[in-house]
Amino acid sequence: MISEQARKFRHALGAFPTGVTVVTTIDNDGQPIGFTANSFSSVSIDPKLILICIDKASINLEAFIESAYFAVNILSEKQQQMSTTFASPVDDRFSHVDWQTKTTGCPIISDAVAWFDCTKDKCVDAGDHYILLGKVVEFDSTIMTPLVFLRGNYVNLTLEQKMLRAMKDDNTKVVVGALIECRSQIYLNEKADGYLYFPTASSLGSLNDSESLLGKLRLVGIDASEHYLFSVFESDDDKSSLIYYRAQVENTTKTSQGKFYAFDEVPFERIRDEWNRTMLKRYIAERALNAFGIYVGKESGGKVEAVTKPSVY
Ligand SMILES: Cc1cc2nc3c(=O)[nH]c(=O)nc-3n(C[C@H](O)[C@H](O)[C@H](O)COP(=O)(O)O)c2cc1C
Repeated sequence: MISEQARKFRHALGAFPTGVTVVTTIDNDGQPIGFTANSFSSVSIDPKLILICIDKASINLEAFIESAYFAVNILSEKQQQMSTTFASPVDDRFSHVDWQTKTTGCPIISDAVAWFDCTKDKCVDAGDHYILLGKVVEFDSTIMTPLVFLRGNYVNLTLEQKMLRAMKDDNTKVVVGALIECRSQIYLNEKADGYLYFPTASSLGSLNDSESLLGKLRLVGIDASEHYLFSVFESDDDKSSLIYYRAQVENTTKTSQGKFYAFDEVPFERIRDEWNRTMLKRYIAERALNAFGIYVGKESGGKVEAVTKPSVY
């Protein structure tokens, strides 16, 4: 159980936006290993030094301490799924990853925004982490957009900008919806047809605009001002977009239109739209891991692009 003070400290640290890296090495059995890390920092230009911090609780700690080498791969916006894989208890994190080796033999991940192949300069004992100081022996970089991490969430700058443009474009019909959670319960509206729906509106708006999603929610006692992108679904001709946000609130509310349903008591058969059923199942599964993705889809198909693990970093 983490103390209130530690939670506040993590929250404050999370206010510093970072990139996301996968740190790799080769273990004693010759196997590639790696973990997601945002504690990367540049240290010195001459000599070329960088650092990364590794949790003493990491199952890979010994391998990283023993190895004379490590590599840092800076992930691109398109590699959010990889970030999740390397932060989750997955047997073979490299099974779907294209990688190669450079000078040290540590895995360099294909399509990383930049990478630094290092010999280990120092390993400094620092509280509940070790600082791995790396001397860069080879590196490269591209102009791809990096993945950004802020306040426990991935920020997909390109996607958010694209959605804002769609919302402003009069030719695009936009439906904005929300998955509102309060302590493992989800808010659903009941309509006259007897089916359950997520709350929606034609714009995200503000708390004071009663026609907008945030305003409508506020009218039923829900303050969803802190929200994150969860699903974006576009028609194939780009003329209509469904944009769903997720928000966690402190208090439940029950109105004539809607109420909160415990995750294990959601009457899925009463959610009419299959896409909404799938979206809610994904939400519940990701909530259990505290690792959320952003689904980006077209009528013809889609994929989960982004994931976050707010309780850890
Ligand atoms: C965005 C993000 C950043 C992280 N940064 C670090 C980090 O800098 N150092 C660290 O030790 N763990 C970090 N973690 C947590 C590890 O990736 C996670 O605990 C992983 O399970 C460690 O794997 P291991 O125990 O197999 O080594 C981060 C996780 C995420 C999602």
